[in-house]
Amino acid sequence: MATSVAETTAFGMTPTVVPQVRTKFRRIQTPLPVPDSLPVLEALSAYEARSMHGQLPVVWDRAKDFQVWDRFGNCWIDFTSTIFVANVGHANPAVTQAIEDALKQGLVHSYTFATEIRARYLRQLIHATPRECEKAFLVSSGTEATECAVKLIRLHGRAAGKRRGGVVSFEGSMHGRTMLAQMLGGTPAARAWIGYDDPNVHRLPFPCPWEVQDGAERFAQDLAHLAAQGVDAEQDLAGFILEPYLGWGAIFFPSAYVQALAQFTRQHHILLVFDEIQAGFGRTGRWFAYQHYGVEADLVCCGKGMSSSLPLAGVLGKASLLDLPEAGSMSSTHSANPLSCAAGLATLQQMEALDLVQASQRKGERLLAGLHEIQRRFPAHVLRVCGKGLLAALHLADPATGLPDTATASRVCERAMQKGLLVVHTGRESIKIGPPLTISDEALAEGVEVLAEALQEIIG
Ligand SMILES: Cc1ncc(COP(=O)(O)O)c(C=O)c1O
Repeated sequence: MATSVAETTAFGMTPTVVPQVRTKFRRIQTPLPVPDSLPVLEALSAYEARSMHGQLPVVWDRAKDFQVWDRFGNCWIDFTSTIFVANVGHANPAVTQAIEDALKQGLVHSYTFATEIRARYLRQLIHATPRECEKAFLVSSGTEATECAVKLIRLHGRAAGKRRGGVVSFEGSMHGRTMLAQMLGGTPAARAWIGYDDPNVHRLPFPCPWEVQDGAERFAQDLAHLAAQGVDAEQDLAGFILEPYLGWGAIFFPSAYVQALAQFTRQHHILLVFDEIQAGFGRTGRWFAYQHYGVEADLVCCGKGMSSSLPLAGVLGKASLLDLPEAGSMSSTHSANPLSCAAGLATLQQMEALDLVQASQRKGERLLAGLHEIQRRFPAHVLRVCGKGLLAALHLADPATGLPDTATASRVCERAMQKGLLVVHTGRESIKIGPPLTISDEALAEGVEVLAEALQEIIG
């Protein structure tokens, strides 16, 4: 039997009259959800897999820079960038123009046949990214990129004569939703459908900075734990894959942990891969988030902000690694689509022209200062503020028990929506924030204030 909208969401589906809002950046002038938008939500609920649902009940019609509109006259400040995609702003004019030009040229698909736009894009991509990124392989989703990185890890391990192709990853990380990608991270419950564990995937508990005093020592303990399970680093481990921060809560590793890990990989012919699908392209105030740790990557997985729009993802890294698979043995029908490459090229050009990495760092300082101020106002409820650049999360706790407070986080997300602000609903105790890097200082400040008001109204 088909599920109803109400069964798939944490949010109220009965239109509620909310106070009207009219500022320079926000407008709320209808009940929410908008009564006339319910047929769209119901159609999606009837015809689409319910796994796609559970978002804030807003039917998006148009998005420009850091604002999102529906068809009913409401307008939100966007603190989501859809889901960390629109780094150079929604419908950035340079990006949409590049897509239009590519469409006019009349080539909308090319498989792996050579195209000029792919060559131009790749040249610029390799030029713009850190020096260890010498070549790239383009795909259409982040999950494909992480799957491909593991393939390269294992091919490299075989070529190096390793006994096994062990991959080490971290519990709670996000690397995608296909079988191997999901095996690398998430939670035991989320992985249960797989039904077995790959004996060559070793998940370590994430070293939360507030639980770890000495990062290097903690890494040594994790290695000892692997050794106790019979894993010989030199012979059995081919690679580590790290999301540079735990996505749901913007929680970064202790730097000393990653530095010790990087040094260890160098000593044992093990590849170091960073999954920058969410973190990359300036999101955290550096080109890639792993640069905060002062280490180099062997492979980097990218996606999301890469095009700020159309599907585009990829693996970047040393030429010797990218060239491991034989010609024809690593490709994908929709990879390197000409329109996506055009969007990717325009995105790179906009990042440079608008100096968005620097902007992310500067605006991020303001964002985090604002969030720490919220924590000072609500110390019993806001346990923690995490993040770097324009990536942040508030962690909520129940003041009575000190336990994570998922229900309140959902209610604050909903209230923020009713006030004209979209934040990322994680389904956990965190409220996540990631506005387009182009957001104005004024809109950023207004959004933070709206979040404070939403918290006040829900917990006050
Ligand atoms: C860190 C990370 N890796 C991988 C993925 C999967 O990317 P995609 O949804 O494009 O397959 C995501 C998506 O949220 C992600 O955040």
